[in-house]
Order: sequence, then structure tokens, then C-alpha cells
Amino acid sequence: MNRRFDPSGPLHGRVTPPADKSISHRAALFGAMSDEPVTIRNYLYAEDTLSTLTALRVLGAGVDMREGELVLRGVGLRGALEATGGTLDVGNSGTLLRLLPGWLAGQAGGVWTLDGDESIRKRPVDRVVEPLALMGAAVEAREGRLPPLRVGASRLTGIDYELPVASAQVKSCVLIAGLLAEGETIVRERHPSRDHTERILLGSHAQFERRDDGSLSVAQLDELELGEVTVPGDPSSGAFWIAAATLIPDSRIVIDSVGLNWTRAGFLRIAERMGAVVVGDLEEPGTFTPGEPVGELDVASAPLEATEIEAAEVPLAIDEIPLVALLGVFAEGETVVRGAGELRVKESDRIMGVVEGLGGLGADIEATSDGFVVRGTGSLRGGTIDSRGDHRLAMLGAVAGLASEEGVEVLGFQAVSVSYPKFEQDLERLLAG
Ligand code: S3P
Repeated sequence: MNRRFDPSGPLHGRVTPPADKSISHRAALFGAMSDEPVTIRNYLYAEDTLSTLTALRVLGAGVDMREGELVLRGVGLRGALEATGGTLDVGNSGTLLRLLPGWLAGQAGGVWTLDGDESIRKRPVDRVVEPLALMGAAVEAREGRLPPLRVGASRLTGIDYELPVASAQVKSCVLIAGLLAEGETIVRERHPSRDHTERILLGSHAQFERRDDGSLSVAQLDELELGEVTVPGDPSSGAFWIAAATLIPDSRIVIDSVGLNWTRAGFLRIAERMGAVVVGDLEEPGTFTPGEPVGELDVASAPLEATEIEAAEVPLAIDEIPLVALLGVFAEGETVVRGAGELRVKESDRIMGVVEGLGGLGADIEATSDGFVVRGTGSLRGGTIDSRGDHRLAMLGAVAGLASEEGVEVLGFQAVSVSYPKFEQDLERLLAG
């Protein structure tokens, strides 16, 4: 499905982004690992997080989907159904692909094969195979690094593990396996990444702490006690409206009920540094408390200046880096992103997707091995961009079209249903507002 996005007038009004994808995946998974039913308010009903529900059903969890509320009847930490030889379809979801093995590896019996769509078959899983194998798990990937991924139930032992890649998915996988492993499991990361798993653990009576040196420690647990979870709006989805309102002159919008967790706010800080006007109660960096902060963001259009982004900032803005490139096109000066090689192994190679995509629309942008350089030209001609089956590139193309001179045709726009099925309806409202 192709969609055309023509140059638009200003955006006005309020928009509530869809529920947070990362938190929804985790809430469902932790619900399935609980003994008592868990109510999740505002669960994201989009392709990725529906894949999670389907997989959890196969594993024996009861999933009761209602409007605005989801009830998970879990099987307990060690109760996943032994559907021996069963395949779990993770669809397009890298988060499900990396988190679920942490739980499955610590079961008493069973062998599962995790597989998914064409894009998922290119996503590296050696990053979870390595720590899980060190814990004693029977895990095996195609060519040692790609899905399908086979996970056999094993007796796990705690490890002290420094993440070789900055990845919240790998961190979460090891922490979940740590709940089932004998002894203590320690995870160290060089730069902080999103901490939603940690916040759930803090609120679930697990023996879990973050030490002064930043390392995370978790001990074996009998039973999770989760209580209710309310999922905030997804800042990564809201970021598309922030970019659009910043770029389109005279725009003024409010993003409602959006997650303001500081480990997800990297894009806001980058955009502000570039001159964007974003007002809201952002969480203090370093905060580590149970639960997720929620609030609103008030955004107005503004002239932009180029900026430079280094490795430490990348995990806090990883899914919004494509939007940094778009802001860079309209900013004065040269915007440089370094230390973002992880973008090459997302739903698509996002360095190529952004550089070839925006370049094809007239941007002056160049790829580097671990990022890109954009020279601001103050405008974008327009043309055609391929989503490459990647939801975030599809929405990038849409925003580029609104801010362009001649409009943009986005090929494969249906990819948005992975995280933001109602993107077009929300856009219509902001254009009418
Ligand atoms: C996610 C973590 C990030 C992010 C992805 C969701 C998560 O991936 O890009 O969209 O929910 O933990 P990595 O942890 O691999 O960087």
C-alpha cells in the first residue's frame, strides 16, 4: 500500500500517541509469568504487541482482550506449556524475539523455536545466545547468529555479564533469565538504555537492585507480584508529531498522556538542543523508581541549528535517530550522528534507509559506518521513499512529505500497523485542528 503525503499547513490541536510498544510487550510477558491475573490498562493493540499475545497464548497464558484493558492470566514463572517442537511466531518483533528466550530458557521442560517474518530473519540473536549459553541454556541459532532460534529448557546459573552492545532487549533477556537462575545475575551496561524492565522488577517484589556503580543485580524468584500496569503513550510514536510540528511553520500541538521516562527522552533533548520548542515535565536523568512517568508535551514550530550526537546519547534516542536526520535537513549547519551502528540491525538497515530515502527526496546526506552526516539545506524537494517494510521509515516518509515542497509518496506505508495503526487518522485531526 502506497500513500502520498502532500506539503501541509500548520498542525494544531491535541494528540494522544498509541500506547508504548516496549512497555506493552513487557507488561504482557510479565503478566504471563505471574501467578495471579494482571490487568494492563491501555495495552497497545498493534501488530508487534499482538504477536506477543499470540505467543503467550501458545505458552498457556489466558489473554482476555477488552477495549482499553487487557487481562493476562499467567502460568507463573516456571509454568510455560511444554509445546515441544512448537514454533512461536514473533512476526516483526525484535523485542519479543530477544525477551522471550530469557523466560523459556529457564523452564523445567520444553523446546521452542522462535521465528518470524522476512525482516526478523535478518535480526541478530547471537546477542542473546551468548549470555544465555553462559547461564547454561540450550540455545541454538541459524549460522550461530540468526533466527530461527531454538531454545530448550535448562537449569540456569547466574552470571556477571557486561553487555557488548547497548541493547535494552538483551539486558531484559538476561534479567528475566536471572529470575530463574540459581544464584545472583549481574548485568552491566556501558551507557544507560531504556529501563522499563527494571521498573517493572522494582514494582514486583523481585530481589532486584541497581548498585552504585550502575550494575543491575537480580536473584532467583518463586513468584512475581505485579499488580496493575498502566501503559503510557509511546514517546517514539509521539516523536513523529514533535518533528512535524517543529518543521511546519506556525504549528502548535500538545502531545497528551505520553511517557516521559528519561531513558526514552533522548530525542526530546536533541531536538531542544537544535532549537525545537518542547515544553513538558521531563523526568530527571538518572531517576530509578517503579512505575512510568506520564505527562504532556507542548510543541511549537521553530528554526533549527545542527547538532552532533555521540554513542552515549544514542540508546536514549535509538528509534528516533531517523527523525534527527530529517530535522538536520532543515537545520543550519552539519548534523552528525556517530556510534549508531545498531541502526543497521533494526527492522531494516536504518542508516541506508534514511540516507538513501532522504537523499532520494533531495537531502544532502551521507552514510558513515556508524551513522550519517546531514548538511542542512533548509528545505526538502520531495519524491518517493521506500519504507523497506519498516514502520519508522514509513512514518519518517510521511512527515518528510508534510514538510516538503512537492510531497512524498511512501511505498509500503502499511508497515505503520506494527506500532501506530491509527497514524493517518491522528494526522487528519492535527491538520484539521
Ligand atoms: C527496545 C529496545 C531497542 C529499540 C526497540 C525496542 C525494547 O532495541 O530499538 O525498538 O523494547 O527493549 P535494542 O535494545 O536492541 O537497542
